[in-house]
Amino acid sequence: MKSFILFLSLLLLVAVPSVRAQQFDLITNLDGRKTVSLDGQWKTIIDPYESGYYDYRYEPGANGYFKDAKPRTKSDLVEYDFDTSTSLNVPGDWNSQSDRLFLYEGTVWYRKTFDYHLAPNTRLFVYFGAANYLADVYLNGQKLGRHEGGFTPFNFEITKLVRDAGNSLIVKVDDKRRRDAVPTLMTDWWNYGGLTRQVQLIETPATFVQDYFIQLQKGSRDHIAGWVKLNGDKPGQRISIRIPEARLTRSFMTDAKGYAEINFDASLTLWSPDNPKLYEVTIESETDRVQDQIGFRTIETKGTEILLNGKPVFLRGVCIHEEAPFRSGRAYSREDALTLLGWAKELGANFVRLAHYPHNEAMLKQADRMGIMVWSEIPVYWTILWEDRGTLQNAENQLAEMIARDKNRAAVIIWSMANETPVSNERLSFLRNLIEHARNLDATRLISAAMERHYVGDTTTQMIDDPLGEYVDVFGCNEYVGWYDGLPEKADRVDWKMKYQKPLIMTEFGAEAPFGNHGDSLTRWTEEYQENVYQHQLNMLEKIPFLRGTCPWILMDFRSPRRPLPGIQDFYNRKGLISDHGEKKKAFFVMQKHYQQLKTAGSN
Ligand code: GCU
Repeated sequence: MKSFILFLSLLLLVAVPSVRAQQFDLITNLDGRKTVSLDGQWKTIIDPYESGYYDYRYEPGANGYFKDAKPRTKSDLVEYDFDTSTSLNVPGDWNSQSDRLFLYEGTVWYRKTFDYHLAPNTRLFVYFGAANYLADVYLNGQKLGRHEGGFTPFNFEITKLVRDAGNSLIVKVDDKRRRDAVPTLMTDWWNYGGLTRQVQLIETPATFVQDYFIQLQKGSRDHIAGWVKLNGDKPGQRISIRIPEARLTRSFMTDAKGYAEINFDASLTLWSPDNPKLYEVTIESETDRVQDQIGFRTIETKGTEILLNGKPVFLRGVCIHEEAPFRSGRAYSREDALTLLGWAKELGANFVRLAHYPHNEAMLKQADRMGIMVWSEIPVYWTILWEDRGTLQNAENQLAEMIARDKNRAAVIIWSMANETPVSNERLSFLRNLIEHARNLDATRLISAAMERHYVGDTTTQMIDDPLGEYVDVFGCNEYVGWYDGLPEKADRVDWKMKYQKPLIMTEFGAEAPFGNHGDSLTRWTEEYQENVYQHQLNMLEKIPFLRGTCPWILMDFRSPRRPLPGIQDFYNRKGLISDHGEKKKAFFVMQKHYQQLKTAGSN
């Protein structure tokens, strides 16, 4: 009996390949490094049955498409050919590039060939801004590794594998949704698949500045605390941190692991929406030098107040999905960021909630420059498989990668662990693990999540007593009074209570209307109905004593497979204040006027 059970479990192991990703040392700043972009057309093979990876016994094959094989003789049997296959643009999701891939979820193989002459005493890495969802990466037929998660960067070292000419870089990208994944099966956004962000080669010295954290110490406005990490065969080096504009140069020694804590006083102009001051910071070691534009500010809470640089602040926000304005598909460029954040500024926002996953780096750097505070979130969304250890590890990885990439961005003030997750003990312990992980990685920022609330009995009192509230710094709550919950005027009768003495951000509220659809203010799907919802919402929100921020859902209409209504939604969630073609709806001006009034009233 025992041997039979052993045989069964071995069978299972083989049958269900483990999907977990490899750990790797993320290179966090590419600015000023020698990089080669691999963007552009990539040859692709669409492989719904993954026959380029598994054989007919559903076993991973040794001669998969990653071999980039060519028939050597006229009798050779090779059943794929990248050279004669179609191409897709990178960066870019595959769904918006070809009608036949619009609804496709599965595997697509990407191949890029390149030549590269590596200088002596240097190293080479291939860096991906993101790949949705599961990426297996190969160079010249060798597996480099696997990355799981569609919205965070990863890199692999190729120093020993790269050739002077004819390199074949192949990526198997699989965006199939899975119950144990993060996000899980159901989301209200389009599952855009592919190499959705930039791909680059990065050349570094043999020992280089791989990562660093340079921010003000928690609670201090004049003391910098952080660390620098070198990667290479000369880990112990003297490093210097220079901030020329502040006449600051400090030097430290890295230890045998290439790590140095840094600590020093600094008198700096603090970053804020009104004055998004960024300093040029140079980190130099004996063998390498990187530069960054870093802002310095403090963010804390005190009772129900959120304090920016020690002063109470009201977060005039708006939610944004990473949907490309005007062309739809996954946004990825600086132009996309300029357009989206430009509209947020026009609305009067000093804060954006980047939903529901880490957006591209261009968005964060633009927010830094424009003085827009940011809520950044990992896609722990709705009903995640809380009990699954692999799912937790995956969520922790995505959290660590999000923080690794954006921890030096002054604009980021809040790390969000989750959105609308149902209260349960398993969920609580899962999210507490994430919160602890986040606090260990970055003690300087606020922790939050978009949490649950409920009506008290059959009254119109909303109670916020989600047990997760104990462990966060700021509360986020989503509510749709007037849309999913009653008619617009109901908001006038709703009041809010909270169990905790903490600040609340109303992280979602709103209603749907395609631009240009008009009618009376009680006719659903009209701009007038949406406007009506906003007017009553603002009446309700203004009465909440512990409210310290608002984030209407959402800045711009975005694609969602859950929104089929013909002639109205057509696979778009139409809760945007702006259409996907940049047309402003009536509700946009209601919010703009409200934010203008808040600004004039000194909500800074
Ligand atoms: C939810 C959810 C969003 C969704 C929105 C909606 O609250 O967080 O992702 O798009 O509601 O229903 O429009």
